Amino acid sequence: MQANYRESMLDKVHTLIKEVNGFTTTSKEEIEAFRIKYLGSKGLLKKLFSEFKNIDAEMRKDFGQALNTLKKSAENKVSELRDNLENTKEYEAVYGDLTRPAEPIELGARHPISIVRNQIVEVFSRIGFTVSEGPEIEDDWHNFTALNLPEYHPARDMQDTFFVEKSQEVEKDMLLRTHTSSVQIRYMENNKPPIRTISPGRVFRNEDISARSHCIFHQVEGLYIDTDVSFADLKQTLIYFTKEMFGKSKIRLRPSYFPFTEPSAEVDIYWGLKTETDYRITKGTGWLEIMGCGMVDPNVLKNTNIDPQKYSGFAFGMGIERIAMLLYQIPDIRMLFENDIRFLEQFKTVI
Ligand code: DAH
Repeated sequence: MQANYRESMLDKVHTLIKEVNGFTTTSKEEIEAFRIKYLGSKGLLKKLFSEFKNIDAEMRKDFGQALNTLKKSAENKVSELRDNLENTKEYEAVYGDLTRPAEPIELGARHPISIVRNQIVEVFSRIGFTVSEGPEIEDDWHNFTALNLPEYHPARDMQDTFFVEKSQEVEKDMLLRTHTSSVQIRYMENNKPPIRTISPGRVFRNEDISARSHCIFHQVEGLYIDTDVSFADLKQTLIYFTKEMFGKSKIRLRPSYFPFTEPSAEVDIYWGLKTETDYRITKGTGWLEIMGCGMVDPNVLKNTNIDPQKYSGFAFGMGIERIAMLLYQIPDIRMLFENDIRFLEQFKTVI
């Protein structure tokens, strides 16, 4: 009886040690309950120590050791669980509760110039045009001379130029390109017809800054060269473009002059006169000028070693700011350069 009792007491302590070591929780309350159960003033260890006197002398050593192990294990367990709890709290303070629903990430906004540029590129890429680019610091040859604008040509005055470096030979003067037509020349010098390319980019003119004009702006140039390209091809391409871009396909071509095209025309689209704004921006006519165009002058083809007897083509050029201002009803071109966040964030939903 006595022997059995001793054995079972020792077994019980060993079972409790296992139980203690296996215990785990992340709840503050459960840790406290655990502490009270084992180490509290009316806890299990108190009770077991009070059994000590009933144990045979020869067993006391084993029993005592087992009880000490149990006590140490319980104490270690409590401090280990408390430490864990502290760490979790710190972790949550830093990273928050990882199980809660995520905060939506705020979207940035594309600049309206980029939005319009991308749209134009997209519309033309659908009919086989590829994008080409050229340098913003350009030489006179590509910006003027090759485009049928030799030295002393009066039309050079149409575009007030920022010169970077004057040279002995006019063709080698360096300047900030005044239009993206310079890319036409570069493209024709390096590619054989058929050519279908559009060239978006930044251009510079020595002009006063106002609500309607800026010394820095953006253009998209278009160029199509092949055998038998006619003015009718140009017109159809423009109708396609205005329909895709503005949802309007009524256009008119007004005779105009550009040195690099012959004949040349200015393209107006019929915007309508539905609102007060329509009246204001079309000056009461309903018509809006959106670009210049024409058949590539044979001299330009010659300047880039393309045979004008065999090939013909058309070109066009438009300002991106002007189109962005039309589409988004932006009253002042300067807003496009100020980078005021209150203006820019309005374009957030447009991808
Ligand atoms: N380069 C002209 C400008 O900046 C725009 C232009 C007009 C480009 C007619 C063309 C064109 O290719 O054919 O005002």
